[in-house]
Formats: sequence, C-alpha cells, structure tokens
Amino acid sequence: MQPTKWLEQNDANLIGDLGKLVGIQSISTDGEHANELNQCADLTCEQMRSAGLNNVQVLKTGASNPYAYGEWLGAPGKPTVFLYAHHDVQPVKGFEADWLSEPWTLTERDGRLYGRGAADDKGAIVTQLGAIASHLKTSGSLPVNVKMLVEGEEEVGSANLQDFFVENKDRLMSDVIVVCDTENVEIGLPCLTYALRGIVELHIQVRTATAPVHSGMAGGVLADAAIALNVILSRLYWGHKKLPIPGIYDKVRKMTGPEKRAAKKVGGDEAKWRSDQGVLEGVELALARNVSPNEATWRQPSITVIVQEASSMRNKSNQVLPSAQAYVSCRIVPDMDPEETYEQIKAVLVKDPPWGVKVEVKPTAKMKWWMTDPTGPAFTAAQKALKKGFGVKPMPIGCGGSIGFVGPLAELFGGAPALLLGIEDPLSKAHAPNESLHAGDFRKLTASLSHLFDQIGDLPDGKVK
Ligand code: BES
Ligand code: MN
Repeated sequence: MQPTKWLEQNDANLIGDLGKLVGIQSISTDGEHANELNQCADLTCEQMRSAGLNNVQVLKTGASNPYAYGEWLGAPGKPTVFLYAHHDVQPVKGFEADWLSEPWTLTERDGRLYGRGAADDKGAIVTQLGAIASHLKTSGSLPVNVKMLVEGEEEVGSANLQDFFVENKDRLMSDVIVVCDTENVEIGLPCLTYALRGIVELHIQVRTATAPVHSGMAGGVLADAAIALNVILSRLYWGHKKLPIPGIYDKVRKMTGPEKRAAKKVGGDEAKWRSDQGVLEGVELALARNVSPNEATWRQPSITVIVQEASSMRNKSNQVLPSAQAYVSCRIVPDMDPEETYEQIKAVLVKDPPWGVKVEVKPTAKMKWWMTDPTGPAFTAAQKALKKGFGVKPMPIGCGGSIGFVGPLAELFGGAPALLLGIEDPLSKAHAPNESLHAGDFRKLTASLSHLFDQIGDLPDGKVK
C-alpha cells in the first residue's frame, strides 16, 4: 500500500490521537501541571510506540519537564532526520468564557479542529508520527533514520533544552532538523520558515514607599507608583514611527527590495490582517509608515508590555500604591545583539524617573534570532515534498515568533540544515481562546512529511547540504 493511502485510511485514528493529546492539560506556564505534563509525555511515548518507533522513553535533564523521545535507525547509510515538536501548551485561565467549545475537548467545526494545543503544537506530534507510521506500517521500514524529540517546556522558553542537547549529543546527532512549530501564512499555502525573531525580556519594578497608604491621607502627597510606572512605559510609545530607543536599529539588517516585495505579496493586505486578528473598528494598526505587517514581524524589532501589576482587581481599595511592576518583551531580528538591546531599553526605562521614584530593571530572558539561507539539497527536498503534499509551490517566509533552540542545535549538529514547516495558519489563534488547527492542512502536512522522508532518502550520496 502507498503511504499516502495508509494516511487516508487511518485519518480518523490520527485525529483521535490528537484528541487524546488535547485532552491532557499539559500547561507549562504556571508550574501547577506537573502531573499533566508527565501524562502527556507518557501518552506521546505510547503514540510513538504505536507508530513503530524504537527505544521510546521519557527523558529529563536537571529540573526539566519530561521530553518524549523515540527513534528508528534501520536505514544505515541514509541521512538521519531529527524531528521536533512540543507537547506543552499555553493556559486558558481567565479566558474560559471566550471558548465556543470546551478547550480540552478536540471539537471539529467547519473543517477546523478546536482545542488548546491543537495547532501549537500537538498537531505536529501527530503529523510527524502519522508520516512515520505511513511508511513503517506499509513497508516495514523508512527511507531515512529518524530521531524524534517532543519537548515539554517550549512555551516557557526551553530553559533546559540546550543542556539536554549537549548531554545527549551522541544519541541525538542528526543530519537534518525538521521543526513543525511555525505558520503557513495562508490556508493551503505551504511555507518554509527561514528566519525567526529572538527575544529580550526584562522586568521593571517601581517603588516609592514601604507599604500602601490610605489615599485620603496620602493622595496628592505620596508619589503614585502605578502612575510613575506608566509614565515610564509610555516612553516606549512609537506612534507610527520607529521605536524611540536610541541605537536599537543600529544593527538591524536591511531588507532588500526583492525581500520587501516578496514579504508584501504573501498573507494578504492590512484589511485581511485586521480581520484575521480581530482588530476593533477604528483602531489603527501600530505600523511604522511604509512598513508592511510581514516586514514588521519578520525583520523589525518590536516592544510589548506583556504584563503589568500594581495591585489586583480583587484587592481594589482607596490606597496610594507603593510598588508597580511590568515585564517588557522585545522581539529582536538579524543582526541585533541581545545584550546591547537589553542595555538600550534599560537606558530608556531608568532615565529621569518621575518624582525620582526607585526604578529597578533586570533581564529575565534573552534568545537570539535565527536566519538561514533556504537553499541546498535538504531545502530542495522539502520544496518537492511540500509541493507534492499541498499541490502548491511552497513559499519561503520569515516569522515573527521565536524558537530559540533552532540556531544552537543546527550548530551542535555541525551546521545541519533546519527545515521549519508550518502547522499553524492565520486563523489558528495559538495561545488565545478558540485555538484551532485546519484539518485539511494538517492532512496535507502529514502527507508532505511522508514525502519528505522519501525525498531525503533519495538524495545522492545522502548529501543534505
Ligand atoms: N509556535 C510558536 C512560535 C511561533 C509564533 C510560530 C508565531 C509562528 C508564529 C512557539 O510555540 C512560541 O510561542 N514560542 C514562544 C517562545 C518564547 C516562550 C521564548 C514565542 O514566540 O513567544
Ligand atoms: Mn509552538
């Protein structure tokens, strides 16, 4: 039987496998779901064994969340493909009411599969295992060797992943990296991501007194920490210009004319962007003049206040608040330096504090950007495989999100090519209520991966670069 035929016949089982994964609340962001993360790693292992992988086991390093690992090494002389996905997910807390169906029950509506983690990134686990099984269940072998790792802490920055890679270097060593954790910019359009943004995250704390004071007694006298923090944060406002941070653009690699035109062409216009993301009528896009949404997210730095806190809604009372804090996250692009970027943002935040309030700024995360030249045998193989699976010529794209390990892992594997294949689409709403996976594209990606194994297995002399 043809592998793709097997995929058609086993479609319901694969969707069922995804349903089981989505059923586990493997949230990594709050530190309260260790049991579920263990369960999810165990279930992933079970699905790896059913697909036919060997040496399947849960692995850990230090205080990491559990990784699920499995391999099939029965193609000596052929390239080894390293497959990556993650089984941890974002929370739903606070936004449960916005879900149209239960977040932990995979629910099909209008050709989309709804549920937390369906697209980011549990769909990728089933896609990869489906592609593996399509070969192993039909011919008993694969055209390449595979090593598959499913991480459990991607959504919190993969703090242990680098150590894990170094500790397990020999076991994991591969020739090509395949990551399914990025986006296709249009439904039905397969995309190969060649650039990711990095992140510089910092914490800012403003303090004015040792404790809150009755606002009847102190209002108008004691400096208000919440207002002071917001005065400081307002210095990050860019209107429709560039970010008001001296030096931040010094190292940004210019996009060439052809790159800009290519970026403008994909994914639709600003109107489509507005409607896909649910922007309210009358609210302007925060773009700098003459910059397209793709150019902004692929190749420009951006700043977001991801959380701020001075008190809580529940504890509302007539007090002047003595302390306020926020996390500021900056996405960085080629060729920005994370350390320098941190110092540049910090300089703006600590300068001239209103009322002389105490301001403390600390770095909380730094992750490099990544960019590759998407040419060579492995990329050609991926292009052919995606063309076959989707029936459409694939598109090279940049990505506004961050997957920190890609660069360091490619380096650890001696400059292995990294193929980043899209599992999400503009309507997936990853991290948000009503996250979903496009069922048609999920099937096409699974078939594409099945073809990718053939294409890589057919490369002359096994040369992937
Ligand atoms: N799947 C995303 C990365 C992504 C984002 C791909 C947007 C395509 C479009 C990944 O799971 C993710 O969210 N990564 C985090 C990394 C962070 C926790 C260090 C991100 O980008 O915020
Ligand atoms: Mn993801």
